[in-house]
Amino acid sequence: MNDARTSSGSTILNTLSLRCVECFALYPSIEEGGKPRYRCDCGGVLDVEMQSLSAFPPVGASQEISTVLSNIESEGDLVPAAGSDLRQLFDGRATTPPIWSADADNLLLDYSGVWRYRELILPVPEQYIISRPEGNTSLYPVGMENCGPGRIGHRQIGLYAGLERLYLKHEGENPTGSFKDRGMTVGVTMANVLGAQAVACASTGNTSASLASYAAQAGMRGFVFLPAGNVASGKLAQSLAYGATTIQIDGDFDAAMHLVEQVCAELGIYLLNSLNPFRVEGQKAIGFELLQQLDWQAPDWLVLPAGNLGNTSAIGKAFRQAYQLSLISHLPRIASIQAAGANPFYRSFKQGFAQQEHVQAHTIATAIKIGNPVSYTRARRVIEETDGVVEEVTDEEILAAKTIIDRSGIGCEPASAATLAGMRKLVERGVIKRDDRVVGILTGTLLKDTQTGIPPSATSTAVAANIEAVRSILRQ
Ligand code: F0G
Repeated sequence: MNDARTSSGSTILNTLSLRCVECFALYPSIEEGGKPRYRCDCGGVLDVEMQSLSAFPPVGASQEISTVLSNIESEGDLVPAAGSDLRQLFDGRATTPPIWSADADNLLLDYSGVWRYRELILPVPEQYIISRPEGNTSLYPVGMENCGPGRIGHRQIGLYAGLERLYLKHEGENPTGSFKDRGMTVGVTMANVLGAQAVACASTGNTSASLASYAAQAGMRGFVFLPAGNVASGKLAQSLAYGATTIQIDGDFDAAMHLVEQVCAELGIYLLNSLNPFRVEGQKAIGFELLQQLDWQAPDWLVLPAGNLGNTSAIGKAFRQAYQLSLISHLPRIASIQAAGANPFYRSFKQGFAQQEHVQAHTIATAIKIGNPVSYTRARRVIEETDGVVEEVTDEEILAAKTIIDRSGIGCEPASAATLAGMRKLVERGVIKRDDRVVGILTGTLLKDTQTGIPPSATSTAVAANIEAVRSILRQ
């Protein structure tokens, strides 16, 4: 891999460092000779630290989060005054119309739901950025109280969850159909800064689809490693169609993850799993965007499905930074939901995080069929900092919730439905209160997995093309 290609490229890298989440060792964002680093010498994963935000030390490095946060003036208002400059900057960009013109790239950058927040994501010169653009996903009001008459079908979701004020943020509305595009635009941009020719990942399907698309856009080779027989057909089709070298391995996601780390180290390919700390920085934008959509009035709870735990880590980090920068007045609590057959994080949580658990994963929600999550420590910290919880839901509960989301007209992929199944359980148990303001993340689109959770009764019937035949069907 080349050195960071120009002086401007290396200048940005000098303002960033990588901190081990286990032992807090600090590394430059790029090693001598331009070699990327994904792990600490102790084996721990790394977290990006930005000089501009380093007035706030990472939790555990030298201060507890409670100390850090109590040092920040909180006005007790819904939206703290201190963050108004940053809020104005982001709000101004959000109203920029996406029109192609002589300086179109600049406009599209502001329009991207990731690069709009670039000061908090990756301060990189524009010429390096590889963006579709992405983000700007809908935040649907679907609670019993906050769902208007034009959304009568959506209200079924609020009723099912038992929540008065519920929003669903549909990350399946990203360009390749999942939240992965937010991290991928940043990961591939970083690959571009480093002059990488090839990028790779292990995936349960969505990361690979996203990598394949962004690599094609950037003119890089893409290599993806998938667990054979455990990837939804639409996701596999995307990876093949976008032209990535698609390798299906005889093993599960955890084996594919182990393999891709070895392959990247040996062949000098840039690794784009969430082990790559810059991808996590991009995924923070889900958090920033939903806060902006709520006019910076933080919700009480954020609920999301959890597999490799990159997203839990990223959204938690976004909330922490938003709070530290006085963009919001309180930290939302985070609830990570796992499939009961792929629940290592839940098992650890139940023991007060005494130790990291591993399982042999089994679930119909193939996107989160992961037994040994890479971002365990990052995510544990998020749950601890936000006074969060981890819940598990059975495949039956996931399918029942998916039916509700699908029949409301919104639709999502199976793993995403864990969000609704989990919040229903947490409301029933009294952990989430009926009148709490709650945001749930739907992580992927309905369209990629056309097999799982589509009820047989919904199979359409072929009939003769005459009115008699149609009448006989409608009478049934
Ligand atoms: N939902 C969907 C639709 C996913 O594709 C994934 C992860 C998750 C939830 C869990 O997010 O791993 O950050 O905790 N998919 C990865 C992939 C593993 O390869 O596409 P996480």
